[in-house]
Amino acid sequence: MTIAKLDKRLEKELAALKKEGRAKAEERVIQNYLPPTGNRGPRYKLVGSDKEFIRLNSNSYLSLSNHPRLIQAADEATHKFGVGPGAVRFIDGTFIHHKALEQRIAGFLGKPAAKIFNSAYTANCGLALSISDKKTHWIGDQLNHNSIIRAMRISNIPSANKGIFKHNDMKDLKRCLDAVGPEIERVVVIFDGIFSMRGDHAPIDKIVELCSAYDEKFADGVITVVDDSHGMGAYGDTGRGTQEHCGAVPDIVVGTFGKAFGVNGGFVAASKILVESVRQKADTYIYTNPLSVADCAAAVEALDICDSNEGLELLKQLKERTAQFRQGLDSLGLESIPGPHPVVPLMVRDTNRTHELVRFLYDHGVLVVGLTFPVVPKGDETIRFQVNSAITRADIDSVIEVLEKFK
Ligand SMILES: Cc1ncc(COP(=O)(O)O)c(C=O)c1O
Repeated sequence: MTIAKLDKRLEKELAALKKEGRAKAEERVIQNYLPPTGNRGPRYKLVGSDKEFIRLNSNSYLSLSNHPRLIQAADEATHKFGVGPGAVRFIDGTFIHHKALEQRIAGFLGKPAAKIFNSAYTANCGLALSISDKKTHWIGDQLNHNSIIRAMRISNIPSANKGIFKHNDMKDLKRCLDAVGPEIERVVVIFDGIFSMRGDHAPIDKIVELCSAYDEKFADGVITVVDDSHGMGAYGDTGRGTQEHCGAVPDIVVGTFGKAFGVNGGFVAASKILVESVRQKADTYIYTNPLSVADCAAAVEALDICDSNEGLELLKQLKERTAQFRQGLDSLGLESIPGPHPVVPLMVRDTNRTHELVRFLYDHGVLVVGLTFPVVPKGDETIRFQVNSAITRADIDSVIEVLEKFK
């Protein structure tokens, strides 16, 4: 009967969340996917609605999730090895597909080695567990993703061993580096590649340059880590992400297969020794079943496509549609944060208006996400649009028309 008492307490907590405006809305449920036809991109049907929706809130930037080659690769792997690994990696849950994906993503990024995880979230946490000790100091951008913040929390370092710098502010990063105490042997500077609420990117070249100036000061140096979950596949001339866009390579790259690559799973790519440390020490790798062989086979296929003319064409389409959408916003005099990434925020700067516009778009068959306080600071209320390669020119025109109608 204890659960009844706990339920009562939790009910109060949930009510408080709602009152503070922090509760998530009921989840919408997708029940059908309608493939692209003619000049119309894919559409989605939701439970409880007859409408066919354009989805502008998906991270599948290259629209690879429904690519026949990925589906076939996943099918073949499943037919051969089944749907689940049966055990964790070190108890014979490692299949050739896991090893193949690790080699493929390391090669794609030009790193000596990589370890795959169930998600980028668990990759960040696993990395933190692997490289932190009491003499490690972590420094992060103030707008880092929740998984990085959580990773810093679970790394068990004293709270004094943490620094937060103002978003993309190199002067403030320098302040954080200068503040590191003499007892510290290792500094880890970690940041998102693309900031997913804004579509802007970390100045990786400047960060790497600044950090290298402090490298000699610490026994184990200053290690730079980018989590480029939103940049990987979708950014840079060949989809190598923010590091390619900025022309500078951090020591460690974390990422996901669950966004531009269209599948699922995360990874840490770095030196061979670091990756072996992750294998030995990352609880979120060791004590949990790995990705299915289907996920791995599909992700390898996604990387192969990215490295082909077809991938470059998808990237080109993504850039063109993103530019078209941004021009459309400009022509309506709407405010955004400039940049070429397919995350295009529309700055509404008002909570009620944000909710109204999300509803208006929904009523006109467009799925987007609205971000209001406390997810974003008051005054920064935003609607996040995410463009993808399968959206057509006509689709973008129709979304801009809907926005024009909204008064
Ligand atoms: C920077 C960053 N890291 C990690 C994640 C989580 O990725 P995954 O779904 O693979 O855990 C996200 C996405 O929401 C992200 O933006």
